[in-house]
Amino acid sequence: MQRKLVVGNWKMHGSRPANAELLAALLGARPFGADVAVCVPYVYLNETAATLAGSDIRWGAQDVSAHEQGAYTGEVSAAMLAECGCRYVIVGHSERRAYHAESDALVARKAQAALARGVTPVVCVGETLAEREAGETEDVVKRQLSVVIHQLAHCAAEMVVAYEPVWAIGTGRTASPEQAQAVHAVLRAQLQAATGHGAAMKILYGGSVKPDNAATLFAQADIDGGLIGGASLKAADFIAICRAAG
Ligand code: PGA
Repeated sequence: MQRKLVVGNWKMHGSRPANAELLAALLGARPFGADVAVCVPYVYLNETAATLAGSDIRWGAQDVSAHEQGAYTGEVSAAMLAECGCRYVIVGHSERRAYHAESDALVARKAQAALARGVTPVVCVGETLAEREAGETEDVVKRQLSVVIHQLAHCAAEMVVAYEPVWAIGTGRTASPEQAQAVHAVLRAQLQAATGHGAAMKILYGGSVKPDNAATLFAQADIDGGLIGGASLKAADFIAICRAAG
């Protein structure tokens, strides 16, 4: 089995003192036996980099511009993320798709912009509750992923994929390990067919992962780790989840 990856998604949370405390706790809790990263708000990237430099904990951002540079007020380029030492960037999170009207095509261009600068995109896919209830889960996640696969072409095997059912994000309602595994298997097959490297690629699960459900989720054959929102802000919870992945 490949080494698991746990990525914390801080979303729009944090403050300098809170971040310092959280990162110090993470550093003190190593080794985890899994790869661990935190995706923080842009303004905290440099401090996070300074704190984590030299450790085995990686850092990243939560979004990136699809453009290389130019008159795009408010945007941050992949080159800038690379300059801040980012290993990862989350793209296509459902909150960005929903609140910022990000299309599959835009998400794919963002993933490409990241990879072009050596930053690994964590590409999020996932269905809404209405789509699940209509029996459309497979179609939705396959469509979302296929646009990215097509855009990345021969580099597609370099992305990380995160399956995050929208109805499970921040709701306390987790997909059951069986529900998650079923979707992960579909995504793995799609990645394998497209890249020939599906077995080596990481597919993370996200959506109300907590210390008490992490181990069973991570025990599923096609779940290679987690993308953790709320629980990544609490040191004890995030550490427990990272240990469950080890
Ligand atoms: P959650 O968020 O763990 O708070 O459900 C996951 C995510 O949105 O990445």
